[in-house]
Amino acid sequence: MTGEDDKNRKEEEKEMKLIKLVLVIMAVAVMTLVLGGNALAFHEEGVAYCAGCHTMHNSQDGQAIVESGQGGYLLRQVDGGSTCLRCHAEYGQRTQTGSGYGGGGDFYWLTKTFTWSAHGHEAESTGDSHGHNIIAADFGLVKTDGKLGTKAPGGDYNHELSCASCHDPHGNENYLLLRGNGDTFHGADFPDAPIAVSPGRVTNYLSTSNSKAPVSDTLHPAYGSGMSAWCAGCHTDFINGIGSRMHPADVEMNSTYQTNYNYYVSSSNPQGGNPNAAYLEMVPFQTGDTTTDSLDTKSTAGPGAGAQVFCLSCHRAHASAFPDAGRWFFESENLSEESHPMAGDGGVTGDDVINSYYGQSITSRFGENQRSLCNKCHLKDLQGGAHG
Ligand code: HEC
Ligand code: HEC
Ligand code: HEC
Ligand code: HEC
Ligand code: HEC
Ligand code: HEC
Repeated sequence: MTGEDDKNRKEEEKEMKLIKLVLVIMAVAVMTLVLGGNALAFHEEGVAYCAGCHTMHNSQDGQAIVESGQGGYLLRQVDGGSTCLRCHAEYGQRTQTGSGYGGGGDFYWLTKTFTWSAHGHEAESTGDSHGHNIIAADFGLVKTDGKLGTKAPGGDYNHELSCASCHDPHGNENYLLLRGNGDTFHGADFPDAPIAVSPGRVTNYLSTSNSKAPVSDTLHPAYGSGMSAWCAGCHTDFINGIGSRMHPADVEMNSTYQTNYNYYVSSSNPQGGNPNAAYLEMVPFQTGDTTTDSLDTKSTAGPGAGAQVFCLSCHRAHASAFPDAGRWFFESENLSEESHPMAGDGGVTGDDVINSYYGQSITSRFGENQRSLCNKCHLKDLQGGAHG
């Protein structure tokens, strides 16, 4: 390398550093403008005001703030989950009736065990199997999973679950403040946070908020990429895919799968659909996008090139009315005939049945003899065949 080259390179590096500095300053200015306009936002710039969640002396106006129990970490509520639900219960993350129709799902279902008799024996769908058993004592969530305990199947995470297991309580710039970027937490080892866009936090359809976002086929999280890898931060072995006896996740849907999804309407109309109206919130996919630029929470389009099947094609991230936090009842061939909770089941109250599918009835939505929603991608119910 000549001396002249070396000098030129140093000049270029200097210039590059200057450009970077200007870019950073501009970015900060833009962020300040954006966030400054959102005066009511609580998780402002990621970190909300400390005293919103912590109390330094457990005392205000001479009265104790936490009445019962002992909140760790100087929290205002008895535990971390209750700290969040103080606001988020009403938004729809833990309602009293199952009216939270969020992408993540309503932790209400953890409190509901359904029983029925099938072919002469008693069957059940227990509350603790309905999702992640977070602890939030002020909101009736007091039990860890009876079978799984506090250990994540397939991984090393082993700790009582709370909102803060997955969301960073002190905020960040990730999708929904999810942990990520190499964060570690009680055996979890988080990769970068998923690329996705959310329609919003108020998922309770009974809420009086005018910025409501219960999900539907026309308003939903728009998923780009990386969600399954993120889940695997705790469920490490569950992402290995074909060959490992695991359903593939964060894996591309080839053109056959895209076509199946795009034209599938129901078991009685498995190929008559329209790709522009194919999106089914009950069975979502990732677009494959690695930036949020073209992700659209109102898109009704089915999968295109690069689209992927992922954990949330089948599961809810928080909880659902069904075992294994399923987006639908996994344990029957014919969802119109059998999907629990069902009218007459033990444990059913209020609107449980209609809330289990976010306000929809399988029969009125899909018709009679609707088979498992695996068929949205696999089309095994073509010709009304006997196998799903
Ligand atoms: C939205 C609620 C919330 C707000 C606001 C909040 N915290 Fe926390 N904080 C928590 C929760 C929940 C935990 C317990 C996390 C866990 O379970 O590990 C915690 C834990 C902590 C801890 C101990 C564990 C750790 O992460 O180091 C410290 C220190 C802390 N917070 C300081 C602060 C400070 C300082 C602020 C203000 C800048 C703040 N917090 C604002 C909810 C909050
Ligand atoms: C004092 C009320 C309050 C508490 C306590 C609170 N939040 Fe929030 N949260 C809000 C508000 C208001 C928003 C929407 C505005 C914002 O982002 O600041 C929000 C937004 C969120 C979002 C993003 C959803 C969206 O709108 O895109 C997540 C995720 C979230 N909170 C999680 C938590 C977690 C986890 C805790 C506990 C560690 C917590 N919140 C505690 C009021 C609260
Ligand atoms: C912070 C760690 C952590 C992360 C991240 C995590 N999980 Fe879990 N998961 C657990 C633990 C612990 C259990 C077992 C305890 C329980 O079910 O309450 C579990 C259980 C489950 C179950 C079984 C529920 C049951 O009771 O049968 C499913 C399904 C599941 N997780 C799916 C997911 C999906 C999908 C994601 C990503 C959106 C995810 N998990 C992310 C820790 C995690
Ligand atoms: C196992 C990990 C995990 C736990 C535990 C968890 N979340 Fe989430 N949460 C997620 C993921 C992943 C999403 C995105 C779901 C989607 O887009 O389909 C989400 C979505 C959300 C949203 C967006 C609206 C919605 O309901 O979908 C809010 C707000 C939220 N979580 C708050 C909370 C609060 C409050 C708690 C505790 C009471 C909590 N989360 C516990 C992983 C978790
Ligand atoms: C094609 C649908 C589908 C996809 C994709 C999928 N799962 Fe599952 N998952 C199921 C079904 C069905 C069950 C019920 C048990 C079984 O069939 O193995 C289940 C069960 C589970 C369980 C409970 C295991 C136990 O021992 O109780 C966990 C945890 C879980 N899944 C996590 C994940 C994670 C994490 C991903 C993504 C990496 C994922 N799943 C992707 C359908 C799926
Ligand atoms: C969102 C689309 C989608 C959904 C929903 C879906 N799958 Fe798949 N499935 C795929 C894709 C994509 C592959 C991988 C195809 C390939 O690359 O060979 C696959 C592969 C499979 C395989 C073959 C695995 C192997 O080792 O060859 C089985 C079996 C399977 N899925 C069963 C199911 C079942 C059961 C359900 C419902 C619980 C389900 N799938 C739901 C998209 C989906």
